[in-house]
Amino acid sequence: MLELANVNSGYGETQVLHGMSFTARQGRVLAILGRNGAGKSTTLKTVMGLLPTQKGSILLDGMSMATTPHAIANSGIAYVPETRDIFPSLSVRENLELTARRFSGDWTLDRVLALFPRLGERLDNGGTQLSGGEQQMLAIARALLMNPRLLILDEPTEGLAPIIVQLIHDKLQELKDAGLSMILVEQNFGFATSLADDVVVVGKGQIVWEGSANEIRADDAIQHRWLGV
Ligand SMILES: Nc1ncnc2c1ncn2[C@@H]1O[C@H](COP(=O)(O)OP(=O)(O)OP(=O)(O)O)[C@@H](O)[C@H]1O
Ligand SMILES: [Mg+2]
Repeated sequence: MLELANVNSGYGETQVLHGMSFTARQGRVLAILGRNGAGKSTTLKTVMGLLPTQKGSILLDGMSMATTPHAIANSGIAYVPETRDIFPSLSVRENLELTARRFSGDWTLDRVLALFPRLGERLDNGGTQLSGGEQQMLAIARALLMNPRLLILDEPTEGLAPIIVQLIHDKLQELKDAGLSMILVEQNFGFATSLADDVVVVGKGQIVWEGSANEIRADDAIQHRWLGV
């Protein structure tokens, strides 16, 4: 459904992506792996229109993708950035309602609270009063309220305790089983490859390996060469 072909992008004079190409398929989970600084987050920011595509193309269902973050969200792509971007001065309820108001579909406030009951207990708490895990749940809940066709997550487990990582894993597995397409950037190899169907490895702004999650899980040499695990 989402296809990058020979995409160059970066920050001002600094080019970070050098011919980035991969395809994320409908109803599947694609994991984007790679070492620190490889260009994973830059790839997602470029897809989301937060950085300009300097060369190459990004296609959604075969058509040129919208280029502004607003239009990209309206085309059915929801993005949970590394920074989670919760509004700290708003309560959990306000954070959720702000998004629920703008989009319609199967995902409602009640349904995201059923997925994350913990958020239901925190509705009147401010964004800053939440633990890291609760902030991540809120960020995912908010993304689901956009009723996306494709959910993109940048390091959802970063900084979280193992028990919360397990919870996030189970929730994402539930979403996958319900047929949601996802792109998952992760440093946590086990987490990513147990959820993913397909894997691409980024090194220095381009794809250096691609294959199935099962293949890379079984191949220590590839893991060592490209990920240092
Ligand atoms: N705002 C920025 N301005 C200039 N260079 C940047 C900026 N953000 C990232 N970079 C550079 O772009 C390169 C790729 O960074 P990116 O954040 O995409 O890596 P990453 O693969 O997501 O790494 P990590 O696993 O640490 O999150 C790095 O060399 C980084 O220093
Ligand atoms: Mg990153």
